[in-house]
Amino acid sequence: MAVEAMSVDLRTVLCERLGCRHPIVQTAMGWVADARLVAATSNAGGFGFLAGATIEPDKLEAEIRKVQSLTDRPFGINFHMFQPNAMQVVDLAIRYRLRAVSYGRGPDAATIRRLKDAGVLCMPTVGAVKHAVKAVEMGADIVTVQGGEGGGHTGSVPTSILLPQVLDAVKVPVVAAGGFFDGRGLAAALAYGASGIAMGTRFLMTTDSPVPGTVKERYVAVRDPALVRVSTAVDGLPQRMIDNPALRRIEGMSRAARLAASVRHALTWGRQNGMTLPQMGALAWRAASGEDMGFAQTVMAANAPMLIQRSIVQGDADAGVLPGGQAAAVIDRLESCEEMIRRIVEEASARLDALARTHVNTDHVTLGNA
Ligand SMILES: Cc1cc2nc3c(=O)[nH]c(=O)nc-3n(C[C@H](O)[C@H](O)[C@H](O)COP(=O)(O)O)c2cc1C
Repeated sequence: MAVEAMSVDLRTVLCERLGCRHPIVQTAMGWVADARLVAATSNAGGFGFLAGATIEPDKLEAEIRKVQSLTDRPFGINFHMFQPNAMQVVDLAIRYRLRAVSYGRGPDAATIRRLKDAGVLCMPTVGAVKHAVKAVEMGADIVTVQGGEGGGHTGSVPTSILLPQVLDAVKVPVVAAGGFFDGRGLAAALAYGASGIAMGTRFLMTTDSPVPGTVKERYVAVRDPALVRVSTAVDGLPQRMIDNPALRRIEGMSRAARLAASVRHALTWGRQNGMTLPQMGALAWRAASGEDMGFAQTVMAANAPMLIQRSIVQGDADAGVLPGGQAAAVIDRLESCEEMIRRIVEEASARLDALARTHVNTDHVTLGNA
């Protein structure tokens, strides 16, 4: 029997809501997701989020305008509720009519209502089913689910378990994150019932990301997923990073030495953000009296920005830490956002096409790796 050529349309509800051509999201990686990367993603048909949590407050508006000067496609911005200028990000997202905001621990219901009333979609990232349910109760329009394979702060449940759990638990569109880098992953996520994929590591490893070339080479050089490992040594929270001298040094420090380094980092971070000592104290107090952060962890939280900037911004791949997902171990080259998104969409279409053809004539297709 002749096999008809089939074309697979990958547009999903996510594309409709976010206004992008392909169901592929670039996540807001601190110091990585700048205007150029966001615009390159959105121009290539994906949807990019600016890292609003790590852009200095007095540069934020200019960075949004820069994206708008580089693309006429929609994009979003990320923030978290502990950053001193969280409300500035919210105000700018509304004023510049950005399509979406992403966040980890979310803002209060009134702020979410303000964003939604202004037509800005609320799209939190969660790492556990209970957080997905809570986020939707609070008003989330779309939920991104990050499995443990993912880069940066991450949970322990892999995407293959967390994604179906969350899909069963919520009624809003779900975006799968953690471990995605190719078209097979996109096809698999859509088959699970997700509305698209979100990627961090794959976008960091593009020619469009601002990370210095020597540091990107370190990401490309990793071949063993076990060497992209989770450690709590940096800021007390589980964070996935590429094994390197800086990580091993921090892990080898005594608790007292680590706390002393954290205090130094906290003071530098506060000064960088234009804060006075009383303001820093007030922020630390607010964070420490929150739901799940103790004093030591609050102080340690300043470690991550300092150690990440040393590598990702200043280019020292041995002195700073290298946040990344296990996908780094299977990505063997840098591509532009344009090339990478086109390839992923073509691969996913071919996979889904091949699967659909198995129902027509199984003699003519080979599935899997055989
Ligand atoms: C270098 C790097 C920095 C990141 N920074 C942040 C951040 O500042 N805020 C955040 O919510 N997630 C951050 N993440 C997590 C990503 O947004 C995303 O959820 C994750 O990378 C997805 O998994 P993947 O790396 O397997 O694609 C970061 C990830 C990386 C690799």
